[in-house]
Amino acid sequence: MKRVSMKNIASLSGVSRTVVSRVLNNKADEYRISKDTKNKILKLAKKLKYQPNQLALALKLGRTNTIGLIVSDITNPFFSTIAKCIEDFLNRANYSLIICNSNEKCEKETEYISLLKQKNVDGIIISPTQNSSDGIKELLHERYPFVLIDRCFQKMDTNCVTVDNRKGAYDLTKYLIDRGHCFVAHIAGIKKTYTASERLKGYKQALKENGLKYRKKLVKHTDFSIEEGYKAARDLLSGKTEKATAIFCANNKLTIGALQAVSNMKLKIPDDIEIVGFDEINLYRLFTFPFAFIQQPAEEMGKRASEILLEQLKNKDSHKFKQTILKTKLICIE
Ligand code: RIB
Repeated sequence: MKRVSMKNIASLSGVSRTVVSRVLNNKADEYRISKDTKNKILKLAKKLKYQPNQLALALKLGRTNTIGLIVSDITNPFFSTIAKCIEDFLNRANYSLIICNSNEKCEKETEYISLLKQKNVDGIIISPTQNSSDGIKELLHERYPFVLIDRCFQKMDTNCVTVDNRKGAYDLTKYLIDRGHCFVAHIAGIKKTYTASERLKGYKQALKENGLKYRKKLVKHTDFSIEEGYKAARDLLSGKTEKATAIFCANNKLTIGALQAVSNMKLKIPDDIEIVGFDEINLYRLFTFPFAFIQQPAEEMGKRASEILLEQLKNKDSHKFKQTILKTKLICIE
């Protein structure tokens, strides 16, 4: 079906294309166009299902008012919360959002970056996978507006919004040590991912500062899935390695997997084992056994990343980038 144009509406309503354009761009009052003419044009546009030509608009305005978001795992409630918050913030600023999921795959992320550029999005917010620095370097080189969220590349000067992962991990490990545990294991997530490596550093720092030996056999590098959390916890609790009496899980999905393993192995919390995890899941607050987690300010992260990107769009020539580090909160359930 042929697209309805402003020219069609003009000839059918007996006014000039300019008058139609002014009405459809909400400028009828500014140009003192009569209410009758305005209502006649709006009624006709609705009847003919008129849609503005986005491509023509983009060429005329030099922008599409569209932002791309690439998250690394859309099935993770942490990222879906961030995506929702970014969408709400940008919609209020008259921007549309295209949400992409890289599923922790660098190749997929690279494909999505080029797709979003082909769609001429005005900017991109990315939670990068652990090997995607080349794609990010290209965006930097092209001066394409973007902001990293949740994860960043320490050797790269970019705008990014993260939390103090090391402190959060330190607090969780210290919580377990203060409860008398000397064999604290760690299910660490995807090696070299910014969040995983910072959380591992916080775990090591807490052991060291409390006189406990770092035992490599008590650290399991996994991905960020429930299944891997389950397998890692099962191995740590089956006595194949030095017996862990407590486990710190690097994120929400790993924690769920570890708790499933504890349940399937008929172990009791806290008698046989204690589990703590990074990220919050609402169900945690229903637990009736001692538990602790780190609450990440996901909404605030989404809002700040959106603000920084829109600021960057306003001042395209400025190349002052910064890392915004938000605080986490240790929540203990006794
Ligand atoms: O569950 C989400 C968290 O785990 C994020 O910080 C992400 O980077 C992963 O580490």
